[in-house]
This record gives sequence, C-alpha cells and structure tokens, in this order.
Amino acid sequence: MSLFITFEGTDGSGKTTQIQRLTARLEAEGQTFYATREPGGTKIGDQIRQVLHDVNNTEMTAEAEILLYTASRAQLVRELVNPRLARGEVVLCDRYVESTYAYQGYGRGLDFAMLRSLSEFATQGLRPDLIIYLDLDIETGLARKANLAATGQEALNRMDKLEQAFYQRVRDGYHELARQDSEPTRWLILSASESIETIAQQIWARVSAL
Ligand code: TYD
Repeated sequence: MSLFITFEGTDGSGKTTQIQRLTARLEAEGQTFYATREPGGTKIGDQIRQVLHDVNNTEMTAEAEILLYTASRAQLVRELVNPRLARGEVVLCDRYVESTYAYQGYGRGLDFAMLRSLSEFATQGLRPDLIIYLDLDIETGLARKANLAATGQEALNRMDKLEQAFYQRVRDGYHELARQDSEPTRWLILSASESIETIAQQIWARVSAL
C-alpha cells in the first residue's frame, strides 16, 4: 500500500534527525521507501533550492519566493512522488505544503486563497497520509540552529536569518493548520523537546501501524 508521510516543524526542531532514525528503522525492517525533501529533491528542484537559500538574495520578494517553492514542489510531485505512490511505494518528504502555509501564509502574510490554489496547482491535490509535526519553542530551535552553524555542521540559509517574531507566527500557524485540517487525525504532533529516542519511538509506533 502506498504511503505518503511528510515532516514539518520550525527550524531546529530536529526533523532531519528523526527522518534519519525513521529511515534506519524502515531499512532494518526490510521496508522499501523513498526519502526526499523540499525545496529540492530533483535536479531542477535542487537548482531552485540554491536560489531560495542563497543568503545574498536579500532582495527576493515574498511573491518570487512562493513561486520558487511552488515550482520545486510541482517538479518533485510529478517527477518522483506521484509515480512512486502510483507503484504502491512509501515516500517520506522533509517539508511539503504545510511549510508553505506556515511560512509564506502565517509567516509572510500572503493570501491563503492564493496559496491554496497555487498548492493545488503544484500538487494536483496530493495530500499526505501522515504529517509528523515536531513542535518546539522558537528560542530552543534558534539556539540549536546557531549551535549547528557555529560548529560547522550546517550553514545558515536565507530563511534562517529572519526575526524571531516571524518564526513565532510560523509555529502558531502550524498549530492553526492542524486544528483546521479537514482530517486532523493525519497530524502526529510531537513535542520536539523530548529525547531523540522518545520521539523516534512515538514516530515508529504510528508509522508501523500504518
Ligand atoms: P532547510 O535547510 O531544508 O531547513 P530545515 O532543515 O529547517 O527544513 O530549509 C528549508 C527552509 O525553507 C526552511 O526555513 C523553511 C522554508 N520553506 C518555506 O518557507 N516554504 C516552503 O514551502 C518550504 C518547503 C520551505
């Protein structure tokens, strides 16, 4: 049975770590899967990602930004996600449509009706079966990011250089999205301040059941 699982969260919430844990577990169980990320995941998407993340692109408008994220998603869904789901595969994606609503909608203040129609256009209406949302307070997330940057483990990108109030709107936005979802049970909301092990177990409990 095909399964489309997305990971969401504010910056520094530990998505990358948990995706690695989940993929290791799936491998150990002999379950085939495909893991990808946004923006990026395809050759064209990775080129778009570079433009989006370039810290020198300070003049990028919110409108250009949303169109670039959407372009990357349109390519990913058609080139990789849809064909694999059609073959009955498991696909994991680090960020998806919810990131757009949270960052460009709640964060940047773009119009939701427009975001919905753009998302629909990019995804052909494809929704995740499960959205794993790692919830973390903004101060802790930003401190984790700063630490990763200071120790050279991760470079800061253009979206890491916004003010704290922006990330707070994004976090509040995620909570709102989960509340308003037509299928709220597809959200697995976890506290990202728990230990890596505890979170990994909670994720596995839900995924293995699916
Ligand atoms: P990335 O380095 O992948 O960060 P993270 O590890 O936090 O996922 O950067 C992705 C950035 O792009 C992140 O700050 C969120 C942002 N983003 C949007 O603003 N809108 C979107 O639609 C997507 C997919 C990502």
